[in-house]
Amino acid sequence: MEKKKGKIVTVTSSKGGVGKTIFILNLAGILAKMDQKILLVDYDFIGGSIALNLDLEPSKNIFHISDDLLNNRYQNFESYITPYHKNIDVVASCKDPRQALKIDSENITMFIENMTNYYDIVLVDTTHGLTKENILLLDKTDIILYIITNDLMDMKNTRLFMDVMSDIKGDAIKVVLNNSRDMGLNYFSKYDIRSMIGKNIDYTIDHSLYIKNITSFLLEGEIFTLNKSLTFKDKNDLRKLERMAMDIVEM
Ligand SMILES: Nc1ncnc2c1ncn2[C@@H]1O[C@H](COP(=O)(O)OP(=O)(O)O)[C@@H](O)[C@H]1O
Ligand SMILES: [Mg+2]
Repeated sequence: MEKKKGKIVTVTSSKGGVGKTIFILNLAGILAKMDQKILLVDYDFIGGSIALNLDLEPSKNIFHISDDLLNNRYQNFESYITPYHKNIDVVASCKDPRQALKIDSENITMFIENMTNYYDIVLVDTTHGLTKENILLLDKTDIILYIITNDLMDMKNTRLFMDVMSDIKGDAIKVVLNNSRDMGLNYFSKYDIRSMIGKNIDYTIDHSLYIKNITSFLLEGEIFTLNKSLTFKDKNDLRKLERMAMDIVEM
């Protein structure tokens, strides 16, 4: 593979279940269509679901990277990767939560940094919260896509995140309001949200990107944005996602 310097894009949040994983899969699909070479890393050691959602059966996963690095057995990165699409490779999360406890996240972030030599974008899915593992990763991240929903608890924890991280990462943090995850919660206006979290909303994923029969897609291992027959209710909303992808490529 040719050498190039790509970037690390991490998707995170303060709450679980806000739609990070579905979002990152859709984004990966769009970027792949733009002919970007993507490495999708499942950095959610315990709750990771990318391999499951893409119907992959990885022979090695993120635990083996850490374990082999620690034991001087690491050879080439390709052996830890499961191909999904011509432009999307995957590093799966642990199969067994006991593996998760043994991962050295410093080794993994080193691996992720190294992968920017081989991919245009290393797209990293995480668990929620300011865990030690996430802080290590965010420190090395070029673009942080911080997913929020229209939810009071989310606002409170997001404010905390911004208070802690804004000084360190500043412009790297992009807030993404996800309205596609549920049947449409809109209690707070964007203005309310901005004043509650102390930061602008950079992108909104509209409700029309709600996928009704999501489970059937996931069971088939399909990425919606790569599915030609799928039509979203509002094409403009999909275009918004495409614009976000373009920004990411250009940032
Ligand atoms: N675009 C969407 N359309 C329909 N349901 C969604 C969508 N995004 C998320 N969901 C629902 O929300 C659940 C949690 O999403 P997920 O991406 O796994 O969240 P997280 O990774 O933040 O924990 C999914 O299992 C799915 O049921
Ligand atoms: Mg997830």
